[in-house]
Amino acid sequence: MIGRPLRGRSECFPCTLSAMLIGLVGDLEGERNAAVRWLEVLGERGDVRVAYQLGDLRFGMGPDPEAYLAAIDSVCTRYDLRLFCTNGNHENWAELDRLWSTSRWIDEDGGLKPIEVAEHVTLLPRGHRWNLGGRSFVALGGAPSINRHLLTEGVDWWPSEVLLDEHVDATIAGGHADVMLTHDSPLAPYCTPEVHEVLRRNASDNPMEWPESSLAYADEGLAKITRAVLGVQPMFLAHGHFHVAGEGLVQLPGAPSATTVWSLAARHEAGTVRVLDLDSLTEASAA
Ligand SMILES: [Fe+2]
Repeated sequence: MIGRPLRGRSECFPCTLSAMLIGLVGDLEGERNAAVRWLEVLGERGDVRVAYQLGDLRFGMGPDPEAYLAAIDSVCTRYDLRLFCTNGNHENWAELDRLWSTSRWIDEDGGLKPIEVAEHVTLLPRGHRWNLGGRSFVALGGAPSINRHLLTEGVDWWPSEVLLDEHVDATIAGGHADVMLTHDSPLAPYCTPEVHEVLRRNASDNPMEWPESSLAYADEGLAKITRAVLGVQPMFLAHGHFHVAGEGLVQLPGAPSATTVWSLAARHEAGTVRVLDLDSLTEASAA
């Protein structure tokens, strides 16, 4: 939430699992059928117990958010899958702010705790850190909505969607993490070629006819994520938001080795779900 100091925290979460493979899920945008389908794909493998969704779940949004969440939790229950969500811009941030202002979801140091919104579904606060499968993780959600001019504050847009400098500072202060999960992408030359192409087209042809103010608003988010990624120097970065499937290998200044970046697609598109092998930080083979 705006103004609340964040602390980088390290904890094993969930600490009882020793998964070497994790599922990564792109923007679901409130599409129940897509969510169910992709979670079934992961569950049917039989070797994935933990999945991370990379924002724009549309938590608390849409005509029946409870039924949407219940459908997701039901699939997770069927396959004994835990889903952890990094928030995007398209979430009900008023509801997130409300939950993260209640004592239940604030730890004794004033930091924000993951919100267990269903038995198998948890929302991760910005800057949250944990360890799994021998790897350190950090999540940093949120992004500016480039279509903000088409949205209505309090209905389908909330100012808390944006990443603040204090979120970036706290995340960097937590130091290196092997795996970084974000909603927004860093800028070139630290993004995938596919995201670079979207950004290039927006800047040159602007085929979506985004207003200058919306492009500038989006650029602020890109700059903040870039600063965070450069500070954390992850070995592996996955993000959503652009709704394009992509992959790149980038060299972050000062990093001892190149960083693999995955851009996840959205909804039913191919490339919305991938499986990461935590040993090699490469795509897991088919189950
Ligand atoms: Fe998004």
